[in-house]
Amino acid sequence: MSHLTRRELLIGSSATVLAASAGAFAADRALAGTHALTLSHLDYGILPDTVTKGMMSFAVDGPPPVLRFKQGEAAAVDVTNKLNEASVVHWHGLRIPNGMDGVPYLTQYPIEAGDRFRYEFTPPDAGTFWYHPHCNTLEQMARGLTGVLIVEEPEDPGFDSDLPLNIRDFRLGGDGQFIALFKARSAARGGTLGTVSTVNWKVAPDFDLQAGSLVRLRLAVTDVTRVGRYEIEGGEAMVIAIDSNPLPVPVPARDIELSPGQRADIALRVPDNEDDTVRLVLKRKFDQKVIAHFRPRGGSVKRDLRELTPLPANPVPAPDLNNVEVMEFVFGWSPEGDAPQASICGTLGYTFWSINRKAWQGDVPGPLDPLATLKLGKTYVLRLRNETPNDHPIHLHGVSFQLLRSNKRKLAPLVTDTALLQSQETMDVALVADNPGDWAFHCHVIEHQKTGLAGFLRIED
Ligand code: C2O
Ligand code: CU
Ligand code: CU
Repeated sequence: MSHLTRRELLIGSSATVLAASAGAFAADRALAGTHALTLSHLDYGILPDTVTKGMMSFAVDGPPPVLRFKQGEAAAVDVTNKLNEASVVHWHGLRIPNGMDGVPYLTQYPIEAGDRFRYEFTPPDAGTFWYHPHCNTLEQMARGLTGVLIVEEPEDPGFDSDLPLNIRDFRLGGDGQFIALFKARSAARGGTLGTVSTVNWKVAPDFDLQAGSLVRLRLAVTDVTRVGRYEIEGGEAMVIAIDSNPLPVPVPARDIELSPGQRADIALRVPDNEDDTVRLVLKRKFDQKVIAHFRPRGGSVKRDLRELTPLPANPVPAPDLNNVEVMEFVFGWSPEGDAPQASICGTLGYTFWSINRKAWQGDVPGPLDPLATLKLGKTYVLRLRNETPNDHPIHLHGVSFQLLRSNKRKLAPLVTDTALLQSQETMDVALVADNPGDWAFHCHVIEHQKTGLAGFLRIED
């Protein structure tokens, strides 16, 4: 197929097609924030004294690297696909042009085994983000393809150090080998949980930190399923941002609910005394466990949390709440019997879920219809209605939204890209449709996404 024909076959608008052509790999151009990722198969030790076979990473010999960018500065990521299957890389939470968003067929062709693709973008917002494939998504993420992405503020807020924490499970047996990546009966309910909790691909790692220093902990929950509550024990710690957006008033780092795809930035004041180990605790439904330790080391540098400069707000446009159009989205079961279509981006073979009574047919070439079309520049309220007995972390690509209200609970007015919609909850969120293109809209429990709970919104002029 010629390059032109391939591009003409893309589902998106002409604006999308133009942006996508900029992504052709150009090794001769090196930009300041240029990174290279190599999607690879590898064997790696997760459990002590075992080597887990069949893992996947964005690096040839270890966990996915932390990618760092600067807010407002042009950057590029050269992706080489050394897997023996197709993939595509999505930058979760970055409000960048549609053609760089990394969704198969909607914004670009899958990157075939052995191929390369250059992503180019200028991150408009600072904060903690992450990146992952959007093709054969359950298997590729479950095997390891989830990484932390950081966009630094132009002004240093005053931390002594910065510690990204990639929090996720793996589904391993006692021998350290992968067990079935999902169970159909769980996919039709809350999702299949992992068996081994890890931070940066380690089980309950220890981190040595300068005593008395100020550390920015960047929690990124990159798991495919688990909703959890996180807490810092044994040290003075404040949540300063959720999902990359600074909180107007920091809150103590206690009982922070994070669902798949969500992040929390925490300012930790490391204790003065070497014996006072700080713990990151994951509270699950029936128990809790320490998933990381932070050990004060050396003489105290005696910093104080009040010395930090508050994080500046990101330039997310404020919704015009006096002039909105309400759009309703119903998340529900899917009519039985619908089998998803196969594609090179894989299928789990089942359809269980739907948005507005339609199940996503799979990552197929299309053309496919958007769930809704939004007018560029206009404010919308999305009314998200969950008719199911399960919780769904709902994620929208390309634009951030603000939480307005819920029929079940009081909501903080957070600005985010991923919101946990509880069972039987109706939640209103507001956004300005300021980024043109076709934007994926789906549940971030990947089994739900891959069995119907997905679609896209079109924003056009
Ligand atoms: Cu992090 Cu479409 O996803
Ligand atoms: Cu995303
Ligand atoms: Cu879901």
